[in-house]
Amino acid sequence: MTVPTALPPELDGIRAIVTGGASGIGAAVVTAMLARGARVVAIDRTSDGVPAGAGAEIADVTDDGAVRRAVDAAAAAMGGIDVVVNNAGIGAQGTVADNDDAEWLRVLDVNVLGIVRVTRAALDHLRASEHAAVVNTASIASWSGLPSRALYSASKGAVQALTLAMAADHVREGIRVTCVNPGTVDTPWVGRLLDAADDPAAERAALEARQPTGKLVSPEAVAHAVCYLASPLATATTGTALAVDGGMHDLRVRPPQQP
Ligand SMILES: NC(=O)c1ccc[n+]([C@@H]2O[C@H](COP(=O)([O-])OP(=O)(O)OC[C@H]3O[C@@H](n4cnc5c(N)ncnc54)[C@H](O)[C@@H]3O)[C@@H](O)[C@H]2O)c1
Repeated sequence: MTVPTALPPELDGIRAIVTGGASGIGAAVVTAMLARGARVVAIDRTSDGVPAGAGAEIADVTDDGAVRRAVDAAAAAMGGIDVVVNNAGIGAQGTVADNDDAEWLRVLDVNVLGIVRVTRAALDHLRASEHAAVVNTASIASWSGLPSRALYSASKGAVQALTLAMAADHVREGIRVTCVNPGTVDTPWVGRLLDAADDPAAERAALEARQPTGKLVSPEAVAHAVCYLASPLATATTGTALAVDGGMHDLRVRPPQQP
């Protein structure tokens, strides 16, 4: 038996759309997929920040018409769509008492219905693909109780449940559906949260200490996980939620020893 000396890039020939691809995790996913040989179109409210080498379609995921136009344009540019990365999302703080109905509907509209609109618009392209995969960005908040994150957690719990339901609905069509559940990731979003804190350095230290690794998660680590889930090699992985959280969800470690 001959052992191949060089493998082709893992995402060679894959055509992917990435929502929220202009910043943070989404931009890291775009970069990682390009490096692995994929063609990529980012769909975002802005094209500023979309990594060089990717296409960019401007659409707000709360606007069904704009989403359909962006998905159609991406499919036309790439000759189809194999992979959908539903990553666009927004945060929300507070207990169940702190946000009014309008805020609940605004966040659920982006974080949950955004995934519905984009996936719905791309479904026929996925059905036509030999390597169809949907990867959603869920969160540690999907399956762990975090303080002052009632609305955000409800939205990300819905993303994980929707991932499982879609995986069941489309498994026989050859479409795999999975999600990543990141811990606290060092992105512009978390930078904005830290900037708003009374003591940003202390807040950052508290977030780092919450993760057993003692570090925030890098966007590149999340992107690597997304690439694995999207890869044509991951043929048996569907309905899976992959933690990328420095051990936050599953490990119970003692606090570091004080000197
Ligand atoms: N940063 C974290 O700690 C963390 C942890 C777990 C999960 N997440 C999730 O990761 C995803 C990306 O977060 P990030 O930290 O990279 O944030 P980010 O703010 O750096 O990037 C989010 C991107 O999504 C786009 N976007 C937001 N609303 C949109 C809309 N309505 N239509 C189209 N595009 C829209 C923004 O323009 C931006 O480019 C989100 O779904 C977030 O919930 C983040």
